[in-house]
Amino acid sequence: MTSPELAQELLAIARSIAQKAGEMLTDRPENLTINQKSSARDFATHMDHASEALIVREILAARPDDGIVGEEDTQRESKSGITWVIDPIDGTVNYFYDLSGWNISIAAKDDQGVLMGLVYAPTVNSLWHATRGGGAFKNGRPIRVNDPIELGSALIATGFSYNTERRKEQAIFIADLIPRVRDIRRLGAAAVDLCNVASGSVDAYFERDLKEWDLAAGVLICREAGAVVTGRNGGIEGEEMVIAAGPALHAQLVSEIG
Ligand code: IPD
Ligand code: CA
Ligand code: CA
Repeated sequence: MTSPELAQELLAIARSIAQKAGEMLTDRPENLTINQKSSARDFATHMDHASEALIVREILAARPDDGIVGEEDTQRESKSGITWVIDPIDGTVNYFYDLSGWNISIAAKDDQGVLMGLVYAPTVNSLWHATRGGGAFKNGRPIRVNDPIELGSALIATGFSYNTERRKEQAIFIADLIPRVRDIRRLGAAAVDLCNVASGSVDAYFERDLKEWDLAAGVLICREAGAVVTGRNGGIEGEEMVIAAGPALHAQLVSEIG
């Protein structure tokens, strides 16, 4: 099977799983049990765990030899060369407060990186997907990043760290940036922030301290939509910053943030 064929097979599996997880999560229980992680602002609900369990079960039913990395502790070695990277609810705080934008992020990678990425946000009726070299789509339609955009007319999404000291630094940085851009958005879900760059609903996105499951699907979708996505130093792997935007604005942001 060629890579594009495999990518389509993985996409079909991801689409069906995301749909099922989306239905389960949309039927929101009245009471959510939470367990705290790194701080009071970093927690998972019992629905994060239920969503991850559903996704893992369905992946293994379709492809038992694949590896899986999930935010809620799933770690399985791959025997097939494919590893799935999943965020069972990206935007848990939004989910907890019944705000829109939370999503299910599912990616699959091979030895060359992410091959397929899908982000499904039922509350905004949006499903973004991309395959490596195959373009990026929102609800089945091709998408393209906004470019060229000047810093002064840029709508920029960002997020704030769970770490208190980082937040103070971020507040200082934003105070300097906000008078010089069109506006800032803090929507609360990294995968959708990236997808919004890809489909032109914001001009750029940057954030520190993201994890592989926050980024895997959204970065491929951004890049396939023509965005440049890097860290401060050009890469992403192991970097504590991600900057995503069309080529012209990306260059300006790197010099602002770098
Ligand atoms: C978080 C969200 C949030 C971002 C955090 C992420 P989670 O993911 O994407 O927007 O600011 O950095 O950790 O914890 O809800 O999956
Ligand atoms: Ca996340
Ligand atoms: Ca999550």
